[in-house]
Amino acid sequence: MGREHLSSRFGVILLSAGCAVGLGNVWRFPYIAGKNGGGLFVLLYLVFLAILGLPVLIMEFAAGRAAGRPILSLHSSLTPGKPAWRLHGFAGLAGNVVLMMFYTVVAGWMLIYFVRTASGFFSPLDPSGVAAAFAGMLASPAEQIAAMVLVCAVSAAVCAMGLRRGVERVVKRLMVCLLLLIAVLAANSIWLDARDGDAAGLRFYLVPSLERMREAGFATVVAEAMNHSFFTLSLGIGAMAIFGSYIGRSRTLLGEAMNVAALDTLVSIAAGIVVIPACFAYGANPGQGPGLVFSTLPNVFNDMPYGRFWGALFFAFMSCAAMTSVIAVFETILACAMDAFSWSRPKAGAAVGAALAVLSLPCILGFSAWSGFRPFGEGSCVLDLEDFVVSNLLLPAGSLCFILYATRRFGWGWSNFLAEANSGAGPKMPGALRWYCAVVLPLIVIAVFVLGLADRFGGGG
Ligand code: TRP
Repeated sequence: MGREHLSSRFGVILLSAGCAVGLGNVWRFPYIAGKNGGGLFVLLYLVFLAILGLPVLIMEFAAGRAAGRPILSLHSSLTPGKPAWRLHGFAGLAGNVVLMMFYTVVAGWMLIYFVRTASGFFSPLDPSGVAAAFAGMLASPAEQIAAMVLVCAVSAAVCAMGLRRGVERVVKRLMVCLLLLIAVLAANSIWLDARDGDAAGLRFYLVPSLERMREAGFATVVAEAMNHSFFTLSLGIGAMAIFGSYIGRSRTLLGEAMNVAALDTLVSIAAGIVVIPACFAYGANPGQGPGLVFSTLPNVFNDMPYGRFWGALFFAFMSCAAMTSVIAVFETILACAMDAFSWSRPKAGAAVGAALAVLSLPCILGFSAWSGFRPFGEGSCVLDLEDFVVSNLLLPAGSLCFILYATRRFGWGWSNFLAEANSGAGPKMPGALRWYCAVVLPLIVIAVFVLGLADRFGGGG
């Protein structure tokens, strides 16, 4: 039986971009950029995207397209004689699951904030009231659980409807709306920042400063920039490989990967432009962490003409961005379940949805009942631990696996990879990059990976 394919090239790009564009762009990127001192972090992140993210994306697409299988059985189908690689499959599946354990929760926050903004909940509040409202939401699990369960149920249902009729149709529409809206909001934010003062927010965000980078810790900034470039492109754990397996062979993969990376970067930069200047305008600390978007943006909308309308629209589309990524990851997990147990789509959908709803509970409880659990000391919570395991361990390690797999003889091998990546029309990956991909890339990933962990656990300043 032939594998189900997507209906058009446009569908492939938007669907992969839908997976890539998500909370990573609109929630994680602004707060990590804020924590790491802005400017220079943003620059480093762009460099890592180009020299590292793009090649790994091509490798993941290629492995997925050649195998036509989800991550769990990808290696045994491409290189049946090399069973050790199957470990990467298991780690990848685990990565997708742990990612969803906090991602569905934050997606739920977006839904809650959509309802609150639309209903005028924030209108009477001043900036400290807005911050207190966020803390209040964290402290009461019931609302968060309801939103998270809704996220899981809808995503599972969309996946259960099928690849083209469900996943592709829904994600395509959401993505087009998202791109339009973020452009309008970014333009508005630039206008406000320039009007209200000295553009301090945009300067923090865009002008590199060694001083601020030293404050945040040199090694941390470099490591977070690399890890985020993997996170935002959804690399390392087979999330993109599954889309590779739905791509036909009419186009080369370099072109497709460049389109996806460009769309993703555009949304990230625009989201930072929307969020960071707002911190400066309303006295919020850009380095405060995961609550950043939620404690700054309602203020912006309160001050804006027709702010309730724009605010509701904003959180509606943030919810969409989050949902497209959740749907994409559910699709990966579903594909593994269907592949491993020969389940039907609806059955796999129900099982995956239910399991993830339960697994997402610890993250929510981490803010209330389990708030005594402090994995990284004062102020940290279950979410930080889960994010750390995925972003700082599984993604870089998984990406390293893809690099070695695609370039080394003990894996799938460079010539197989190159032939797959370059089959079809469009720009081709130059064979001369072999040395760079097989030697330089692994060294960069290992060096930055070790540097980041040493900095986090080494007890140094
Ligand atoms: N890239 C998505 C975002 O930016 C999140 C995501 C989806 C992801 N699938 C992934 C991250 C796989 C890492 C791995 O929000």
